[in-house]
Amino acid sequence: MSLAATLDYTPEIARATAPVYDRLRRVVPEIEWPFHAPLVHAITELKRERNAVVLAHNYQTPEIFHGVADIVGDSLALARKAAETEADVIVMAGVHFMAETAKLLNPDKLVLMPDMRAGCSLAESITAADVRLLRERWPGVPVVTYVNTSAEVKAESDVCCTSGNAVEVVESLGVDRVIFLPDEFLAKYVASRTKVEIIAWQGHCEVHERFTGAQIGEYRDRFDDLVVLAHPECPPDVLAAADFVGSTAHMIDHVVAGRPRRVLMVTECSMSDNVAAAVPDVEFVRPCNLCPHMKRVTLSNILEALRTLQPRVEIDPAVAGRARRAVERMLAVRPR
Ligand code: 13P
Ligand code: SF4
Repeated sequence: MSLAATLDYTPEIARATAPVYDRLRRVVPEIEWPFHAPLVHAITELKRERNAVVLAHNYQTPEIFHGVADIVGDSLALARKAAETEADVIVMAGVHFMAETAKLLNPDKLVLMPDMRAGCSLAESITAADVRLLRERWPGVPVVTYVNTSAEVKAESDVCCTSGNAVEVVESLGVDRVIFLPDEFLAKYVASRTKVEIIAWQGHCEVHERFTGAQIGEYRDRFDDLVVLAHPECPPDVLAAADFVGSTAHMIDHVVAGRPRRVLMVTECSMSDNVAAAVPDVEFVRPCNLCPHMKRVTLSNILEALRTLQPRVEIDPAVAGRARRAVERMLAVRPR
């Protein structure tokens, strides 16, 4: 039996977790808290025992994001913080490529991925053999690879990037032309922001490709004061209809700093919940597209991972060194 099944909501747990619920009250109904609280409490205790940290992506559910995460952020922030942590154990509340990035940067630490099936349609869209063929076709052209890829693909690349630093990374190479993999829409967005010629692949995010410019238009017709923020994995017509384009962290910063009255975040749904919990004065309009991979991580499987110290992320030593170099080269690019 899993540990989660044996836990009760006791008065002691209610007291200990009350400050956490205060942060969540706007987005987690009171009736649900007795199910989450014993898990939050047990995870907090086990993290201390194991000297573990939970890294959570901005798309994790609020009870993970505000309840048990030690570090939250976009892919870039999670990679940077993973490189700095002094914990012995890292639990990735995100998807598999994020756990691999954390392991590349911490080869001697234990990196746990609560559900190994948490993949990504972009990471699935390209293989290491595809990258080798592209290099044959475009000899001498450097390969810039989005972190949403496997370690094998990173190993064939010159440098990685995220949605938060893609333009800076491309321009840091000082060349006229790059191969940019695998997100076609992010590649188009980068091409619109730089003079460097971009050779793209046809990968798409299954969550962001479903948004349309027409949908944004319908929301604008309904709310005349709407501020629209979009992730660069969205199709070009969506980005053209947005007021601001940026990584998940850049979108959050934009809302927290600007405090618009009404906001539409064109990205995965949980992010609006996570930000709404922190900025009660902003109203969020939610077109809801969930990432099924992100949603594989739950409080129960985080607890189970900490209890059993499984499943562990391991990377083939034949690719780890080269993949690490591509990630470290990205981290060395100074933000503007
Ligand atoms: P960010 O790096 O902007 O958080 O994006 C990661 C991701 O998977 C978006 O779908
Ligand atoms: Fe991959 Fe899209 Fe899910 Fe992000 S939201 S993890 S890009 S499938």
